[in-house]
Order: sequence, then structure tokens, then C-alpha cells
Amino acid sequence: MTNKTIPPKMKAVILPAYNQNVLRAMLSLKVEEIPIPIPQKDEVLIKIEAAPCNPSDIAFMQGGYNIVKTLPAVSGFEGAGTVISTGDSVQAKKLFGKKVSCFIQEDSYGTWAEYFVTKAKSCIPVDENMEMEQAACFAINPFTAYGLYEIARKNISHAIILNAAGGQVARFVQVLAKAKNINVINIVRKKEQIEELTDLGEKYVFDSNDEDFENKLKETAHLLNATTAFDAVSGELAGKILNSMPPKSELIVYGGLSAKPISEIEVLDIIFKNKKISGFNLNEWIETKINIDEFSRISEELQQMFIKGEMKTKIQKSYKFDDVVKGMRQYLSNMSGGKILFIP
Ligand SMILES: NC(=O)c1ccc[n+]([C@@H]2O[C@H](COP(=O)([O-])OP(=O)(O)OC[C@H]3O[C@@H](n4cnc5c(N)ncnc54)[C@H](OP(=O)(O)O)[C@@H]3O)[C@@H](O)[C@H]2O)c1
Repeated sequence: MTNKTIPPKMKAVILPAYNQNVLRAMLSLKVEEIPIPIPQKDEVLIKIEAAPCNPSDIAFMQGGYNIVKTLPAVSGFEGAGTVISTGDSVQAKKLFGKKVSCFIQEDSYGTWAEYFVTKAKSCIPVDENMEMEQAACFAINPFTAYGLYEIARKNISHAIILNAAGGQVARFVQVLAKAKNINVINIVRKKEQIEELTDLGEKYVFDSNDEDFENKLKETAHLLNATTAFDAVSGELAGKILNSMPPKSELIVYGGLSAKPISEIEVLDIIFKNKKISGFNLNEWIETKINIDEFSRISEELQQMFIKGEMKTKIQKSYKFDDVVKGMRQYLSNMSGGKILFIP
């Protein structure tokens, strides 16, 4: 199925080479005119409306992400738009004309482009009442928060510890926890984030740079019996968090924003206090939702929270592809300020 007005070429942001130096990686990005791909059997072609820059996009450019593409490659893993052409499969055809949000990991395509091709099964149909800017940031973080929160529920945790608490995954965990009266102990690294989270109703917000941080964290973690922590930072902060938690606690690592290995862990706590560390990966979590109806139900539940305004991705600004470096600089200078979006 095809929309007859598809042009032959599109603008796309191309990464020519991986570079550990984030500034050099960013500056190497080029906006080029490349052919618009044609969707095969179970694939769809999506006309992009917006695509965010996430920490995974940065790690990818540095060659430090688990997805490695053949270079040069189009950047961007997440985005939203409309399906304007499909392959022959029934699943693909069903999506024709639909608005979808996607997390794509294909070698040849990326969302920082006017169009991209992906598998029909990688598309999450979005409700017509969902704003497209919100849909652009829907496929990754809200599901990550949902999956993490599910672990806290299974652990029967009375309270949760979160670092990078001014980030979007953390924000969604805060919302899910609040709905069930679960306490959250938030860790940030800037004073202004304490104020922002307090204004949003968070009772416990600590600055990891405070002299007394570890004592305060330990005292509160024991007081509230916080036996689950979600770590997006790694490094020594992750170790300090686990050390501060009561016996039988679990630290779930889902990000490595400090780009440092986890350190400082009290060995005796692991041996004698039954503390443990595990990892969370959204792709693996999605695979545990073998039943497609269960995934659709979760998607529907989350979308309703967006439509009602209970959840919202904070977006600081939108940029054209030609301003990709400007946009990324803005995001890196203030990640807690919200996502930046690329729009065609
Ligand atoms: N495992 C998975 O499946 C999965 C899925 C989704 C996301 N993630 C990961 O989750 C993490 C958070 O993503 P997000 O989209 O929520 O981020 P985000 O909204 O872009 O915000 C990032 C947050 O992290 C803080 N931060 C950045 N570097 C830091 C550091 N070195 N130490 C302490 N805080 C730091 C930022 O604070 P400042 O404003 O102070 O910089 C900001 O509050 C990322 O690592 C991402 O890759 C993993």
C-alpha cells in the first residue's frame, strides 16, 4: 500500500564515524539527502513528525551503546509519525494511515530523518488524542518506567530510591509510585532540581553533592524501608546507594550516565545482608510480554495517563535537522530541562 505523493529523496542526519569524544561525534554529524527506503513485506514507511534526542543516541555516537550500526548511518532510535506506505503482510497493511510511536534498532534506518522504515511489530499505534510531540517520546521511557515499577511491586517495596531523579524515566516512576502511595527517595545533582521536584510534590529529594548526602540517604532509606533502587548513573553513586539500603535490597541498573563502572560496594553487605544488583533492559522486558494483548493493555493504560495529563514528557525545544548540533548542545547542557525534538 502506498501514498502516491512520496518524493524520491529525504533529509537525514548521518553519523559518519563513532567517536568517544561526544563533542567531536556531534560535530561530525551531517545532514544529507538520501533515497527514501521502500518498505518490504512486514515493514512500514513512516513520515516523521518528531524525534527526540535521548541519552542512548549520545552513547550510540560515542560507540558506547549496545546497538552498533554499519556506518555511515542515520541517527535516532525513537520517534513518531504516520504510516504512509507498507509491505504486503497483513500486519503491515493494518497500520496504513495510522499514527505510530517507535523505538527502532534497524541497521540501515534512524528516526532523525524525514522518513524511516521499520518492522510493523516495532510500531505502537497511538491514540488520536495523544499529542504527536508526546508520542515521539512514548516508545521508550514510559515503558521503561512501567517495567521498573513492576519490579518494585514484585519486590513488595515500601519505598523506591531513584537517581538522575530530574530525568524523564525517573519522573514517570515518581508518577506511578505516587498513584499507589509508594514513597520515593530522589537523588539529584543540582540544587535547582531539588526545588523543582519538591514543587512537583516529591517529599524526599537529596543532592548527591551535599556533604551529608550518604548519612541522610541511609537514614531515610532505613526509615522508609526502601528495598528497591533504580540506578541510571552507575559509578560510585550506585555503590553508595546500595550501601545505604536495608538488608535484602536490590539495586536495578538501567543506565550508565556517568560512563563509569559501578564501585564502592560494601562486600560484606552482598554476602551477609543479601543485597543484590541486577540490570534492566527495555527490549528484554518487552519480550517478557509474550502476550501481545498484555503489551497493548499497558500501552493503552500509559496513553490514557498522557491524555489525562498525569504523565508528560518535558520538552524544552524543537529543532530542524539542520540545527542538529545546536539542539544536541542544548540538551547536553541541561538534560533535566527536558528532551529536545528534531522536526522535519
Ligand atoms: N535500560 C533501558 O532499557 C533504558 C530505557 C530507557 C532509558 N534508559 C537510560 O535511562 C537513563 C535516563 O534516561 P532519561 O531519558 O530519563 O534521561 P533524561 O530525561 O534525558 O535526563 C537525564 C537525567 O540524568 C541526569 N544526569 C546526566 N548525567 C548524569 C551524571 N553523570 N550523574 C548524575 N546525573 C546525571 C541529568 O541531570 P542534569 O540535568 O544534572 O544533567 C538528567 O536529570 C539514561 O541512561 C538512558 O539511557 C535505559
